[in-house]
Amino acid sequence: MTLAIEPLHPLYAARLTGVDIRQPVDEAMMSAVRAALARYVVCVIGHDKPPTNEQHIAFSARLGPLERGKSPKIKGTETRVPYPEIVDQSNLNDVGEIYADDDRRLAYKRANRLWHTDMSFYEVRATYSLLVGHVTPPSGADTEFTDMRAVWDALPATRQAELERLVVEHSYWYSRVQGGGPEPTEEERASRPPARHPLVHVHAPSGRKALYLASHASDIVGWPREKARALIAELMDFAVQPRFVYAHKWRRGDVLIWDNLATMHRATAFDDRHFVRDMRRTTCRERSMESGDSRIV
Ligand SMILES: [Fe+2]
Repeated sequence: MTLAIEPLHPLYAARLTGVDIRQPVDEAMMSAVRAALARYVVCVIGHDKPPTNEQHIAFSARLGPLERGKSPKIKGTETRVPYPEIVDQSNLNDVGEIYADDDRRLAYKRANRLWHTDMSFYEVRATYSLLVGHVTPPSGADTEFTDMRAVWDALPATRQAELERLVVEHSYWYSRVQGGGPEPTEEERASRPPARHPLVHVHAPSGRKALYLASHASDIVGWPREKARALIAELMDFAVQPRFVYAHKWRRGDVLIWDNLATMHRATAFDDRHFVRDMRRTTCRERSMESGDSRIV
């Protein structure tokens, strides 16, 4: 089989056909998938039936060292999908029921509706996320993306020069609270301290510069907080203009792969009190980790 690539947006994003992640994938096909990801940074592979957790994990491991997570310390959380490599992105509790409206986990998950890149609050950044659609609600719940290389290219040269050497602090709890979640306890806060990353970096697979930003971005190192947040807000607004956005409409069995080092994304709203959305995610990191902390986001 050869890989067929159908672009989904003028700037990036593509549908890949000719590959089935439920089957063994040979190295020539993997090279073609990696090349498509380098160019398009958001790729969807459709299947008539979702891959199993094991198939999902096995394919993901071909794209880089896999995150093996443990839950953040949010009181009372249990695991519905008992694989350390899989983040449960559903609105279901540990016995498969839709979360109660006052569940802290639901409040935190709703923060995924803010534009972000996965795990920027860790020192070792996420590369690829692979999200599998097991159950999709009848409407809403698109995943929207923006290409941060195209965003960088569109900035005026004078602005680019001002941004080149800035370092941004990213905090998981900052975005949770911004998204409407409760203030974390000291213990929760200590379970995920903030991390610092350059605002501008070279996206190695494509060789293009990109902004690295997220709803987790809380401060700029050495800047007063107010000034930092104003710049972050300005850049976030610039980055999510409609001309940069691709909205993925889910079908059961879709495997959506994106490069966190070149994109931002967000979940859009749906009726999460009445409809099930069962999404499961694996995440590759820049390098292997002894232990991680990735159950949510
Ligand atoms: Fe995410």
